[in-house]
Amino acid sequence: MTGGGDAPGLNGIIESASRVLLKQNIEVVGILDGFEGIFAGRTKPITLESIIGIHSQAGTFLGTSNKSKVMGRSDEFQKNFAAMKLDGLIAAGGDGTFKGLRELAPDLNIIGVPKTIDNDLQGTEITFGYDTACTVVSDAVDSLRATANAHHRVMVVETMGRSAGWIALGGGLSSYADVILIPERPFSREKLAQFLTNAHAAGKPGMVMVVSEAAKAIGEDAVFSENKASSTGIRFGGIGERMARWIEENSPWEARHVVLGHLQRAHYPTTTDRFLTASMGAMAASLVLKGQWNRAVVYRNGLVTDAPINDIQGAPREVAPDHRWVKLCEALGIFI
Ligand code: F6P
Repeated sequence: MTGGGDAPGLNGIIESASRVLLKQNIEVVGILDGFEGIFAGRTKPITLESIIGIHSQAGTFLGTSNKSKVMGRSDEFQKNFAAMKLDGLIAAGGDGTFKGLRELAPDLNIIGVPKTIDNDLQGTEITFGYDTACTVVSDAVDSLRATANAHHRVMVVETMGRSAGWIALGGGLSSYADVILIPERPFSREKLAQFLTNAHAAGKPGMVMVVSEAAKAIGEDAVFSENKASSTGIRFGGIGERMARWIEENSPWEARHVVLGHLQRAHYPTTTDRFLTASMGAMAASLVLKGQWNRAVVYRNGLVTDAPINDIQGAPREVAPDHRWVKLCEALGIFI
């Protein structure tokens, strides 16, 4: 089952885990559309023919949902799951998926695979999908630098990430963006205006600024999109446009903005994410084969390994304000 927002690499987890299990003659059943598939009894048998090659595609072969109402539906869930006659469940999902599973079926045999492009889950140093999201950001910065220079503008690129700045930081750093704004380091408007003005005076042809959707100035709140009603709680959005307007009012630059939005989730997985999901899916399957339930597949110290499922739950894992990548930005002359 895949739950929550999609992330590049979900299909890699499905292909890898299924290949390993099918090779051992284990019957594999795909649950469709996350929790909805269990509530509605929607499944499909997984055969080798059906999953070969899906690892290279974005989205999820099984469908997903992040709008399911789970409160008070525990009996219904458990009855439906029991009717499927499954030994256990491999769930690739985020915090909401694992919270939901704990609420609905605390005694279910589960293997959890942490998933989010935001890279903000506890217990793992990297989540799959993150590298691909960073690649979308760095490709955008590289492209936008050309038009920024041609028109002598600042191009502002708004990224996803919720309350964590990992995507803006990783994508912005790997493309040497001029400015990176992340929620964990509220920025000084005064210093930023000075930085932009100095760069203009020094004859810089154009600039690119990467701003995480929940980035904010010191003493201010993050910007929320008009429609705050979201299944995942707060819906951020709009900081990119606001920053472009602010730059024009507070520096000599003309500015434009680009919102990368769901393109960060829709890109086919990078090779790094393919390696990661091949290993993580196979690890999930090997835990099933050993009957080691209620474990999570995580990435620690350069290796894919397993840990208690509770390790991947809790508050979002945010960027430490003095993280080594932050220091690297500073060393490179990037405003952060
Ligand atoms: O958590 C992943 C994520 O893509 C966030 O970065 C973003 O804020 C949110 O999901 C968007 O969710 P939705 O698909 O509901 O718009």
